[in-house]
Amino acid sequence: MPRLIKSVRELKTILHSIRCELGNKKNIGFVPTMGYLHEGHRKLIKLSKIQNDITVVSIYVNPLQFGEGEDYERYPRNLARDLEVCEEEGVDIVFAPDDEEIYPEKPKTLIDVPGLTDILEEQFRPGHFRGVAVVVIKLFNLVQPDRAYFGEKDYQQLKLIQRLVRDLAFPIEIIPVETVREEDGLAYSSRNSYLSAQERESALCIYKSFLMAQKLFSKGNTDPDLIKEAVRNFIEKHPLVTKIDYIDIRDEELREVKNIKENDRLLVALWVGNTRLIDNWRFKNENV
Ligand code: PAJ
Repeated sequence: MPRLIKSVRELKTILHSIRCELGNKKNIGFVPTMGYLHEGHRKLIKLSKIQNDITVVSIYVNPLQFGEGEDYERYPRNLARDLEVCEEEGVDIVFAPDDEEIYPEKPKTLIDVPGLTDILEEQFRPGHFRGVAVVVIKLFNLVQPDRAYFGEKDYQQLKLIQRLVRDLAFPIEIIPVETVREEDGLAYSSRNSYLSAQERESALCIYKSFLMAQKLFSKGNTDPDLIKEAVRNFIEKHPLVTKIDYIDIRDEELREVKNIKENDRLLVALWVGNTRLIDNWRFKNENV
């Protein structure tokens, strides 16, 4: 069973004794999550297990990254099940603090990274990444891991964390992990639990549109406007898609592109019924 830790004090004590035991040659891997663990999270954990001596998973639904009227209250939570998943994966420590532990007072520090926190998601979830940045930096400082694992599913988040770590010289290696998809292509997400069977079927249009975009690219189409338009037309055919927040194509660093090349990203955020989904696709030179 992983060790379940709820307080910052206990976490510090445990990590201190682990570091004394292990010495400096051993590594700590860290997987920050908001719980309701699925195969995507499992992949991050598995990689951490392979690359490190100790794996710490945090489970904390961070109120700071939810805007007013968003799904903070209804965000799915099931600590008992998450602990089982962590046990199956051989996690050493689960850090599941409550709000008072993480925010004894509301943080005043605001983190902005022009070009990363003011694009894409920011237009639709203002302040979201400020909340993410504060909690991730705080968790980094509490856990002090050697490596931390982030999914490409949340590509903008991954790029933000990589930049923060570089800019502020955090002694942490950020390991990006490819998006894990269900057999039919839907990216695993805790929010998929909101979807009805019909909505889930409609949500598949995201992955299908990625395959279509990739096919167009493989055939030699490199005009982002043309491909964005094709994706939009395809997605709009699905009646349960209630709103498209954005369809965009950016380079690896999320800069705008004039011509699509390998490793550029197609990024989509849309609503199926009352559920907001995000996903992205890396353009590849080989056909898929
Ligand atoms: P959460 O949505 O729980 O995701 C935790 C980590 O799992 C993130 O790095 C996310 O990108 C990754 N992940 C989610 N679905 C994935 C999938 N299908 N394939 C691969 N990786 C996937 O992201 C957050 O929590 C929060 O913003 C957090 C970083 C914990 C800060 O509160």
